[in-house]
Amino acid sequence: MRILVTGGAGYIGAHVVRLLLGRGDDVVVADDLVFGDADRIPGIRVLRVDLASVDAVAPLATCLREERIDAVLHFAARKQVAESVERPAWYFQQNIGGLANLLMAMEEAGVTRLVFSSSAAVYGSVSGATISEDAVTQPVNPYGRTKLVGEQLVHDAGRSFGVSAVSLRYFNVAGSATPELADRATTNLVPMVFQRIDAGLPPQIFGDDFDTPDGTCVRDFVHVLDVAQAHLVAVDSTEAGRGDHEVFNVGTGEGTSVRRMIEKIVEVAGSSLVPEVVERRAGDAGVVVASAGKIRERLGWRATYGLDEIVGSAWEAHTAGRAVPGIASSR
Ligand SMILES: NC(=O)c1ccc[n+]([C@@H]2O[C@H](COP(=O)([O-])OP(=O)(O)OC[C@H]3O[C@@H](n4cnc5c(N)ncnc54)[C@H](O)[C@@H]3O)[C@@H](O)[C@H]2O)c1
Repeated sequence: MRILVTGGAGYIGAHVVRLLLGRGDDVVVADDLVFGDADRIPGIRVLRVDLASVDAVAPLATCLREERIDAVLHFAARKQVAESVERPAWYFQQNIGGLANLLMAMEEAGVTRLVFSSSAAVYGSVSGATISEDAVTQPVNPYGRTKLVGEQLVHDAGRSFGVSAVSLRYFNVAGSATPELADRATTNLVPMVFQRIDAGLPPQIFGDDFDTPDGTCVRDFVHVLDVAQAHLVAVDSTEAGRGDHEVFNVGTGEGTSVRRMIEKIVEVAGSSLVPEVVERRAGDAGVVVASAGKIRERLGWRATYGLDEIVGSAWEAHTAGRAVPGIASSR
């Protein structure tokens, strides 16, 4: 298959590019390389474009046509919750504007297979039991709202010009296949704890008075390689022109408390720092764990890596990144 991967120079996209190449697909990446890094995808053709720019549709459509693209995997988006609260209009311009431009280009080029990177952020502060895809969607921040509106736009494109799409709602993605592919953002828990350890500061737990067994938030940590693999089965399940849209959670179905995760990271890092409890952050739900049954039954996907592999691979990538010039361990 010939696949366009938007945001393919980013953390998750670059993992997917590797798996696609590994199974013999032909890959082209579209990325503005602002947060992405071309070193993650050596030898891959990159269309350098800001998807959200008004001028993006024509080069995207040309690329789709000339490269005879069969399907698009759309990762390119801004993903920092706090920033989205500060700049909501810009987040919509970036995430929804970018998706709208991409869909216009796909319509123009007659490409109708799509996998969209959504997020568990669409559920908002749903808490308690595992969350299934038909749970209420009430995102609590602009970032989550861009993902929900994105899903709706993808759905509408199915009705309008036959897009056959899958939206994947990732839970807490972590780990790394190799040092170059590591998550360099410091807003996710694992890189955030690494940063504190590097600085000799105690990792922070945001609140320990939630209604959970140890009082700290419970999350569903899923290895990035498992997430990447989900995209392969997702794109294979689409069919040109079928005009359908399916939504799947991508998680393990297992909850891990933030305290346990931080203790694991500290242990793997060989650190003696003791986590400190600080104030809750606004909008944090107590328990956010995927119900992972739908994707298992419909697409035959299940997570294969556990916590040891997630934390071990992330730490390995982090320490190697510190030693390799040109690979920043955090950003
Ligand atoms: N990492 C997570 O835990 C997580 C969880 C849920 C959902 N997601 C979603 O998955 C996708 C990928 O996330 P990631 O962690 O790999 O992020 P990332 O920042 O590492 O990668 C995103 C890539 O998209 C590119 N990009 C962003 N906006 C662009 C634009 N307007 N034009 C062109 N390129 C643009 C960036 O340069 C980068 O290469 C995003 O859509 C994100 O919202 C991520």
